[in-house]
Amino acid sequence: MSKNNFNFLLVGTGNIARTYAGAVNNLPHISVVGVVSRSAERAECFIKDNRLNNASPAESISTFTEDFDAVILATPNGMHHQPAIEAAKMGKHVFTEKVLDIDREKITAMLDECQKHQVKLGVAFQRRLSPDNITLKNMIDKGKLGKIFAVDLRVKLYRGQDYYDSAAYRGSKNIDGGGCFIQQAIHNIDILCHFFGLPEKTISAYGTFTHQMEAEDHGAALLVYPDGKIASIVASTACKPGFLNRMEIHSDKGSIILENDQIVHWTIDGSVNPAQKVKNIHTGGSMAVEDTSAHEQLLEDFVSAVKDDREPLVSGKSASMATELIFRIYEGKIN
Ligand SMILES: NC(=O)c1ccc[n+]([C@@H]2O[C@H](COP(=O)([O-])OP(=O)(O)OC[C@H]3O[C@@H](n4cnc5c(N)ncnc54)[C@H](OP(=O)(O)O)[C@@H]3O)[C@@H](O)[C@H]2O)c1
Repeated sequence: MSKNNFNFLLVGTGNIARTYAGAVNNLPHISVVGVVSRSAERAECFIKDNRLNNASPAESISTFTEDFDAVILATPNGMHHQPAIEAAKMGKHVFTEKVLDIDREKITAMLDECQKHQVKLGVAFQRRLSPDNITLKNMIDKGKLGKIFAVDLRVKLYRGQDYYDSAAYRGSKNIDGGGCFIQQAIHNIDILCHFFGLPEKTISAYGTFTHQMEAEDHGAALLVYPDGKIASIVASTACKPGFLNRMEIHSDKGSIILENDQIVHWTIDGSVNPAQKVKNIHTGGSMAVEDTSAHEQLLEDFVSAVKDDREPLVSGKSASMATELIFRIYEGKIN
């Protein structure tokens, strides 16, 4: 890491890799110096199309000969652990797209290896940047919302069959790790875990209703927390035309409703609605993330975390709660 510049090696040339290229092009002190692809030609095209003027194509992380500080993993869900471990062993920091990976043991190995080699592991859960989510987290931690007894999460999205047909692995169990719970609702499930931790008991029902694919496109889960609080999650990519993500929180002091990570209803005894009317972050309405601002913030935070030797805003450990809950949802099937 030079005094003024931080260099990333970007792994993957798909949809979200383009978001990273756009983000880095807006950040003067952060560069992509290499792009890892299974095809040298694809890497060359990606570099040219995305105006990554400092980058060279690379076959793999370990064979890249130029100096770099960290990797960005923009490969499919089940392909994060291997490059994360490869980078950690080289002493390189790791910033990975969600999800961490799709298997408990592999996630544990990623976390352990990053800790062992003293490199940072950051995860792209950009909903954590929502000002209203930040305010609520703070208030929940300080007990300012009263005794919360119910939380209901609704992530009723729609994806056409063309989305699942756009790559052979989409909607597969062995590479995507599942369907609407792990691929789409995970952002909201991360916020649920960030607010309330992990439940004690989880049951679920899910299936594939309107798409041709292996994994689920609709499901529901019921969660019971150690303090008795009851939460429900509905996750879907089958609810045409797709709806705003919604979280409803009820306590002995009143109720809060968030839509797309913004407070739209606030009745909490003795406290004024803290909602901040700000531009929304990417909320899962589509596959592409055209607005690069959230990824810019995540990368800037990650670089500061490395420089200041602190945990990133979304650390690997904190992100692993969402995958753990999703594994329990998949294992808790009753139908
Ligand atoms: N944070 C968010 O809001 C958000 C939004 C969308 C996606 N994501 C996450 O980003 C990751 C990538 O998603 P994406 O939509 O960018 O996927 P994508 O368009 O399919 O791109 C994935 C890239 O990974 C590389 N790759 C390596 N091995 C592969 C394999 N066996 N099959 C397919 N591709 C392989 C490919 O590049 P080469 O062919 O050049 O090797 C491919 O272009 C996923 O983990 C997803 O969950 C996050």
